[in-house]
This record gives sequence, structure tokens and C-alpha cells, in this order.
Amino acid sequence: MFNIKVNENISLKLLEKKDTNELFALVNESRNYLREWLPWVDNMKQETDYEPMIEMWLKQFASNDGFQAGILYKGKMVGMVGFHGIDWSNSKTSIGYWLSEGYQGNGIMTETVRALVNIAFTEYKLNRIEIRCGVKNRKSKGVPERLGFKQEGIIRDAEYLYDHFHDCILYSILSREWV
Ligand SMILES: CC(C)(COP(=O)(O)OP(=O)(O)OC[C@H]1O[C@@H](n2cnc3c(N)ncnc32)[C@H](O)[C@@H]1OP(=O)(O)O)[C@@H](O)C(=O)NCCC(=O)NCCS
Repeated sequence: MFNIKVNENISLKLLEKKDTNELFALVNESRNYLREWLPWVDNMKQETDYEPMIEMWLKQFASNDGFQAGILYKGKMVGMVGFHGIDWSNSKTSIGYWLSEGYQGNGIMTETVRALVNIAFTEYKLNRIEIRCGVKNRKSKGVPERLGFKQEGIIRDAEYLYDHFHDCILYSILSREWV
């Protein structure tokens, strides 16, 4: 069973079909808040919408292409984190994340992303990790900034959010910079 301990309170688990209800409930209760920065929220309208996603994420893990994991805080699912695939030719990946609204402000995501960076550099032995954050997404930018990622530049109109494009900051860290 895939279970990564981040610290005493936080662990990560691969999502399975039986997690569908919990995942749906989590997104549903934070829908308006998540919608501000995540483009997929309106596509996930009912529990069954998660089944093909979870299947796809399990295949991703089985194909050695990274993974998507549920974040458990004191045993309760509070969000997700994952690698957007792995570019083995160029030895790099990128990380995405979201947290339920009520669990912000405790350092949960910073510690979780720290664990993913460790996995990427020590287990996958990659060279480079990217994180993209909306230019105005202060809380999201805080995660790579606290972990020492470098800001490389701004990707203009990087993502379409329901009715508008928005610019993203590209952050990165290299294995030789991670101590
Ligand atoms: C982005 C997101 C995960 C950030 O959540 P967050 O709670 O701010 O991040 P962390 O869990 O790392 O917590 C950091 C906050 O906790 C505080 N904190 C408390 N204890 C801490 C600790 N031990 N370590 C680090 N930070 C701690 C920090 O000061 C910071 O608060 P601040 O922003 O007021 O300074 C969350 O806002 C979210 O999911 N937003 C919607 C989706 C989204 O934007 N996803 C990212 C798309 S790129």
C-alpha cells in the first residue's frame, strides 16, 4: 500500500475508487474557493466524474510517470498534491496542489511539497522541478518561495480560467540547489 509519511500529522496516499465520495465532498464544500485558481472544478460535478480520474492517476503511477496523492492531515483527507507526469528525457517534472479552504494557514502544503521535492530528487533522481502559480495567487506563490524555488519569469496567458486567461510565475529548483 502506497503511504508516504510527511511528518507526524501529514501523510500521502494514492487515491483509489473507494476514496471517490470523500474526494468529491472535499471539492464540493470548497467549490467557490477552489474555482478562483483551478480550471477543472466545474468539470467535477458529481461523484462519478472522479472515477475515470482516479483510474487515470493510478495508471500514471503504474507507468512510472509520477503520481497524484491525497493529503491526509491527522487521518482526514484535506487536499491533493501530485506530479504532472515526468519528462525522463530532460530529467524534470512539475508539481501541482490544492488544499481544502479550512486547512490553509498551517504549513501543510509547504511540508507536503517539500516531501515531493525530496522524492523527485532522491528517488526519481530528477534534475529539475517546476511549479507554476498565478501571478496574483499569493498563497500558492508562498509554497515554492518558502522552499527556496527561484522565480524564472512570467508566462503570459499561461492558463484559461473559465472566462479569462491569467499570467503565471514559473518557479523552479534544481537538484544541486536542494540541500
Ligand atoms: C495554494 C494553497 C495550497 C496554499 O495554502 P496555504 O495554507 O497558504 O499553504 P501552507 O499549507 O504551506 O501554509 C502556509 C501558511 O501557513 C502559515 N504557517 C503556519 N505554520 C507553518 C509552518 N509550520 N510551516 C509553514 N507555514 C506555516 C504560513 O505563514 C502561511 O500563512 P500566510 O500565507 O498567511 O503567511 C491553498 O491556498 C489552495 O489550495 N488554494 C486554492 C488552490 C490553488 O490555488 N492551488 C495552487 C494552484 S497553482
